[in-house]
Amino acid sequence: MDYVGAIILAAGQGKRMKSSVPKVLHNLCGKPIIQHVLDHASSIADSIYLVIGYQGEKVKEYLNKTNYYNIEFVYQEQQRGTGDAVKMAQDLLPDNGKVLVLCGDTPLISAESLKGLFQMGSEHDVVILTAKVPNPYGYGRIIRDKDNRVITIEEEKNLNPNQAKVDEINTGTYCFAIDKLKKYLPQIEADSDKGEYYLTDIISLMVKEGHSIGAFLLDDYREGLGINDLYQLAEAAKVMRNEINYNLMTEGVTIVDPDSTYIDKGVSIGNDTIIYPQTLIEGKTEIGSGCQIGPNTTIRDTIIKDRVMLTNSVVEECIIREEAKIGPFAYLRPGNDIGHGVKIGDFVEVKNSNIANGSKIPHLSYVGDADVGEGVNFGAGTIIVNYDGTHKHRTMVARNSFIGCNSNLIAPLKIGEGSYIAAGSTINKDVAEGSMVFARCRQENKPGLAKRFLKKE
Ligand code: UD1
Ligand code: CA
Repeated sequence: MDYVGAIILAAGQGKRMKSSVPKVLHNLCGKPIIQHVLDHASSIADSIYLVIGYQGEKVKEYLNKTNYYNIEFVYQEQQRGTGDAVKMAQDLLPDNGKVLVLCGDTPLISAESLKGLFQMGSEHDVVILTAKVPNPYGYGRIIRDKDNRVITIEEEKNLNPNQAKVDEINTGTYCFAIDKLKKYLPQIEADSDKGEYYLTDIISLMVKEGHSIGAFLLDDYREGLGINDLYQLAEAAKVMRNEINYNLMTEGVTIVDPDSTYIDKGVSIGNDTIIYPQTLIEGKTEIGSGCQIGPNTTIRDTIIKDRVMLTNSVVEECIIREEAKIGPFAYLRPGNDIGHGVKIGDFVEVKNSNIANGSKIPHLSYVGDADVGEGVNFGAGTIIVNYDGTHKHRTMVARNSFIGCNSNLIAPLKIGEGSYIAAGSTINKDVAEGSMVFARCRQENKPGLAKRFLKKE
């Protein structure tokens, strides 16, 4: 196979985003915009040249952390147009073979479409990836002659009224024969208004010299959506979410209301799981089969095994094992391992704790930095006092213990197996196994005294 490279243009500031974050680092369904483009391009290209400029260090820093792509970063110090950006990378290319040029801000173009573009590239000196869109405003238009041959791409500001009606647009994605790209790129002249070099001008230069120009029309125009502002970002996210939800539903996941369900790309969910409305499932999350998730639930970077019920809750960076029941209104902060059949109920917050199989924390508790054995029951209002104002300490509650309501367990603390803590106790000394512990004031009753304190009728 001949060489296939990809140049991705991502040096622009993205002025229309009105944001201090570089455009290509804005989040789209769980990943920065640029990462979607890289995912798709890397499925066909041998090497990738990413042209960066505006806040380029931030883009580079982010991508270096992903530790995944074989990317060569190319700097475009001054953003003098898409033609100039490609020029920055041309010397790194071999003399022959094909190169795809992609924009860093069109993340919906699929790997399949890029493959189609590339295959058509074998018949032409350049192929443009085009789309027929309902509203072409703002995009470069594909202008054809009376024999339907592409003759040029015209940008919005240069369109005559007839050209403005053309609904076939340039997605900013091309497959070039490298030798032709290298030959014509230097011939692009600066635009008279802005002094920028437009890559799109290469098409008419090549047409003049009789080269063959192809156009590969997208089946689904939505893939061609470019992101220039935050409204277009939201539109693109809607398209991507729709596809994510569709794929899950065709694999047996029930999504009660896809329009109000927000699942990141890469999340996996088993069949016979039901997702109720207003649920966000983000990051590196895996959910098993037969679960009931939502409504009104946020899950981030969490592994959930089969047949878990999780309702009206927030969960981050946890493992939740089979048949656990979480919520309503639970908050599971990072670092929890919630065992098989565990119940975490309403208004319970759990952090950095291991809760072993079958234990129950049903109401109104805080459990932080604890190791709780199997079959433990926490009464309502149990608080683990894990923080002394300077340090965090751990608490161990061994299996089959019973903690009465409204107890405070002051860490560091060990409660032995099968212990019984009386309700309302404040425990700050270790408890030997099998002990019953009272740590509260003794009650005194004064018969008849109440009437002195009650209002007279
Ligand atoms: C560009 C195309 C337009 C096409 C549209 C598709 C040109 C002149 N116009 O317009 O025909 O319909 O994309 O979405 O090519 N960039 C650089 N360096 C620069 C300028 C831009 O790296 O000096 C990068 C940007 O970061 C961006 C991409 O190139 O990722 C496209 O630039 P942008 O300014 O968004 O071009 P459009 O106006 O959308
Ligand atoms: Ca753009």
